[in-house]
Amino acid sequence: MSITEIRELSALREAVGAVKARGQRVAFVPTMGNLHAGHFSLIELARQNADFVVASIFVNPTQFGPNEDFDRYPRTPDADVQGLSAAGCDAVWMPNVATMYPMGVERAVQMRVPVITETLDGAHRPGHFDGVATVVCRLFNQVRPDVAIFGRKDYQQLAVIRAMVRDLAMPIEIIGAPTRREDSGLALSSRNQYLSAEQRSTATLISQMLQTMEQGLRAGESIEAVQDNAVKCLQQAGFDVDYAVVRQPDLTEVASVAAGQSVVALIAVRLGTTRLIDNSEFTL
Ligand code: PAJ
Repeated sequence: MSITEIRELSALREAVGAVKARGQRVAFVPTMGNLHAGHFSLIELARQNADFVVASIFVNPTQFGPNEDFDRYPRTPDADVQGLSAAGCDAVWMPNVATMYPMGVERAVQMRVPVITETLDGAHRPGHFDGVATVVCRLFNQVRPDVAIFGRKDYQQLAVIRAMVRDLAMPIEIIGAPTRREDSGLALSSRNQYLSAEQRSTATLISQMLQTMEQGLRAGESIEAVQDNAVKCLQQAGFDVDYAVVRQPDLTEVASVAAGQSVVALIAVRLGTTRLIDNSEFTL
């Protein structure tokens, strides 16, 4: 069956309503478009968890800072819809800004998720995660899915969404999907295409450094030593480093680690004007 492109809220309600009236489960995969194999793997996971899969494409203005890449964010709707269809997506929700923010962005009701948004990317991108929570809450109300899939590549984003859903008792199951990578180890991202060939090869150091951090901890190095070494190596390779840290899975700081403990290593760097993030969760 071919994919249904939906731009009006009434048509979305009708399509999802018909599925639910049959007693079937609806899965939802929110995206900002410019889709790659990482996004399509989320669609496949959605397929395994529901009878009907809805993706959304919306480049959300409220999650971009004033000096970020909202205007130049790559927009490729035709290729996206084709790819979604091939991946087995049933419907794609493509609202415009006026549909998403009917009272205008200035008057929009906003979400604020405290504490978890104040560290790491939240500290480097003020307001970003509140913008994400604001749009994802709207998307959830529009689509009304049973289950929604988010990539673990955006580790803190997934944590913010889980916090919002739990705190507001939203009746939606949240599933975290594994990170898809190039053979080089570089995590797939729409922002990779901003990179020159040389920068792209430098960027492979990010996932390598996550492994080095894990190996260091396994060899008994301190968290401080592992973090300092990662920052130094990344800087030597030409990155501006926002952070290279080891945290608890809930993103709180951890002073030392013991065998059997689960932690997550997270890196955020800038290469020229392109900001890249990656992480790796593991048990010692
Ligand atoms: P976007 O960056 O388009 O990502 C959409 C989804 O794809 C997110 O859940 C993200 O974690 C996941 N994803 C991205 N790269 C991935 C990879 N290499 N492997 C697996 N999954 C990957 O994240 C957003 O959009 C927005 O913030 C959004 C949630 C749509 C709200 O606007």
